[in-house]
Amino acid sequence: MGDVILSEGMVDEGLSAIGIDRRTFLKFCATLAGVLALPPAFARNIAEALQTVRKPSLVWLEFQDCAGNTESFLRASNPSVADLVLDILSVDYHETIMAAAGFQAEAAKDAAVAAGGHFVVVEGSIPRGQGGAYCTIGGKSALQILEEAAKGAVAIINVGTCSSFGGIPAAAPNPTGAVGVSDVISGVPIVNLPGCPSNAANITATFVHYLTFGALPALDSKGRPLFAYGARIHDNCPRRGHFDAGQFVQEWGDGGHRKGWCLYKMGCKGPQTFHNCPTVQWNDGTNWPIGAGHGCVGCSEPNFWDQMSPFYARLPKVPGFGIETTADTIGLWLAGATAAAFAAHGGAKALQRKVTGTPPKPASGRIEDDGSHEGGI
Ligand code: SF4
Ligand code: F3S
Repeated sequence: MGDVILSEGMVDEGLSAIGIDRRTFLKFCATLAGVLALPPAFARNIAEALQTVRKPSLVWLEFQDCAGNTESFLRASNPSVADLVLDILSVDYHETIMAAAGFQAEAAKDAAVAAGGHFVVVEGSIPRGQGGAYCTIGGKSALQILEEAAKGAVAIINVGTCSSFGGIPAAAPNPTGAVGVSDVISGVPIVNLPGCPSNAANITATFVHYLTFGALPALDSKGRPLFAYGARIHDNCPRRGHFDAGQFVQEWGDGGHRKGWCLYKMGCKGPQTFHNCPTVQWNDGTNWPIGAGHGCVGCSEPNFWDQMSPFYARLPKVPGFGIETTADTIGLWLAGATAAAFAAHGGAKALQRKVTGTPPKPASGRIEDDGSHEGGI
């Protein structure tokens, strides 16, 4: 992995310049330590790193997308994650938010790429059909632009399910031949931050991890950071007690729905989805889909549009569940599998503490990736 190229301006100076005081900054660092599943004491390490590191250059590309990841990122507030991150990073090219246009914008991108040591953030899938004609910018195909930008990059960070796995554009019948970045690029470290959209907290935490530790976060078998995708939604869901008790919403607006019972029978795909939505939530912890009374549709899993649909029917095509069975049977099976996973995880962590003296990680229900997330449980 190459070194980060330094831009002008210390991070701390930049934060002061946009009116973020030290207390707010430390609160931000503590929040990020939590997102990264680090002990609270690591907030100090993050603060020290962000005060001394210089801003890495970032090129943000958009291809077959709805710009939803950019929207999600910019809607963060209290304090604005976008403000903080835009000051932690030197965003040299971003089609949606940059003031420059045309040749001036292209020149900014070319200069950042020529310098090397930059991050490439990709939003949207890459169409391979018709020679890439379905997505061209300035006469170049998405693939050409991506290949050029990837040269000399520290890493490619895919934000959203489309750039991570192809997403909705790649759903059957996939008329444009859409694929994720990993299908067309090799030789550069790739981090996938899927979600429809990707959570701004996880985007920020990924960069902060790099700036703090000088390395990308540990990934699962699908290229997703374990801190954000290492645990199943079902295992951290506040409605889990109702699942285990056999208390299910039977139709929208019924008594169980009003009481906050489990949404499994209404199509919730939480048992098959790995994401930190229950703990981090969205819009600075305001709420999340299940908290709002809607089941999880598995938006951060590969092929979710094809494999997790119909969204209001229970897990019809998901490997491991087979044909329809009763929720109670699945409930017993899930409880057993989850208990085994907890036991194995707890045993391994206890051994690690004994051997190394390292403290336990705080995230409850976290399942270490063993490459078995396919099929889930
Ligand atoms: Fe929560 Fe869905 Fe699991 Fe029910 S099925 S406990 S709503 S994740
Ligand atoms: Fe997506 Fe499910 Fe989270 S739909 S936003 S992974 S709760």
